[in-house]
Amino acid sequence: MDDFEAALGRAREHALAFLGGLDDRPVAATVTAAELRQRLGGPLPERGEPPAQVVDALVAATEGGHLGSAGRRFFGWVIGSPLPAALGADWLVSTWDNNAAIHASSPAGSVAEEVAGDWIKQILDLPRDASFAFTTGCQMAHFTGLAAARNAVLAARGWDVETRGLAGGPAIRVLATEHRHGTVDRALRQLGLGTDSLVALPTDAASRLQPETLARALGERDAPTIVILDAADLNVGAFDPFEALIPLARAAGAWTHVDGAFGLWARASRRYRDRTRGIELAQSWATDGHKWLNTPKDIGIAVVAEPAPHRAAMGLAASYIVRAADGARDAMDFTPDWTRRARGIPVWAVLRELGREGVEAMIDRCCDFAQAITTGIGAFEGVVLPAGAPSLNQGLVRFLDPRPGATDADHDAFTLRMVAAINAEGTAFFSTGQWQGRRTMRISVVGARTRPEDVDLTVAAVGRVLAAERAALQA
Ligand SMILES: Cc1ncc(COP(=O)(O)O)c(C=O)c1O
Repeated sequence: MDDFEAALGRAREHALAFLGGLDDRPVAATVTAAELRQRLGGPLPERGEPPAQVVDALVAATEGGHLGSAGRRFFGWVIGSPLPAALGADWLVSTWDNNAAIHASSPAGSVAEEVAGDWIKQILDLPRDASFAFTTGCQMAHFTGLAAARNAVLAARGWDVETRGLAGGPAIRVLATEHRHGTVDRALRQLGLGTDSLVALPTDAASRLQPETLARALGERDAPTIVILDAADLNVGAFDPFEALIPLARAAGAWTHVDGAFGLWARASRRYRDRTRGIELAQSWATDGHKWLNTPKDIGIAVVAEPAPHRAAMGLAASYIVRAADGARDAMDFTPDWTRRARGIPVWAVLRELGREGVEAMIDRCCDFAQAITTGIGAFEGVVLPAGAPSLNQGLVRFLDPRPGATDADHDAFTLRMVAAINAEGTAFFSTGQWQGRRTMRISVVGARTRPEDVDLTVAAVGRVLAAERAALQA
């Protein structure tokens, strides 16, 4: 045990020092790739080292190379921060190191995932008899849900894709919006459907797919069809009008899959759940633990209303596997992988830590902060809000080049320059976006640890950077 005590003891100390220093260190990384390569690299070691020394060396070599995304003022992309019980549970999952593919190799993992999956369906108010899978992220949740969709829409045309493959079968058509996330396209490539199967449908000014548009596309030709809808898109948090759209898809025999990477969590809030009305009529939903639920990475969740095609698409039979006699759940029937960690355990822990009330409070708080930061920055001279104030937890701002005669290209360049300067200043961190052809800075609030004072600190820091950058341009 000595080596474990030494290595884990050092890891615990480093972890607490890292978490404790998040508020004081720059949120952005402070070292270049070249420096990291130089510190981490060198020849492959011929001889081993004591484990605790390796842990110390790793921390020293990567110092300054970690973003403070686990902290309070990280508003880039859509990245959560691990809550304490979830992080502790995650450490234990690695410590127990069971293979959660089957109950026989991870009895506790199997049952914890059974419970966590059931709780997820409850808090998101999805059909209680749906099947589910804990995946590495929303990317693989898309892959899982769309594999079930592929199975079902082809089976409806008498084609068993699991045995016959795609070649020679009816060509699947996928209807998705122009705002879909890139992981949808990649899932289609992974599934052999190819991006040529995709018809990108235009949305209205509020980024929502309109029923007439979907109805027209559905009526264009008779083909096995998958419809992919957004809850919510990552630029403005737009929800498609599910209540009107999904019945149209169903009437046409199409399968509806929802990208709810973060937006599906609006269902946990009484304030926001109305946006998702009708979403329960879909056949599959993809979401994440590691975004708005604030589990550690990498945890995604696929929920499938029709367990049979889900199982047919993902299931695996191996002659050496003996199934649990009491009908316990074998995750490999539903996940795209074989050996896997019990990703449902940190989900179980976070739901115990927050409870339904805590999740709701977290969702509401993040939306309030996104509003306050976006409108706070928008109040500075030379800042516009291209999409207005946020309606959920995603805001967009654009910084205008102050020089007379500045063009859209100049505003694009100044916006990029501002994002880099804000991140270099270190108080807060944002990522860039592109909306309606224009560069933006995205304000994305999903972190559980942000507090009201962080809004003021962030807005003040952006104001300081803006004044300095405008002055520099005008000099
Ligand atoms: C709307 C949306 N869908 C899908 C994804 C992909 O999620 P993951 O990174 O968990 O695979 C993201 C990631 O930001 C997203 O914002």
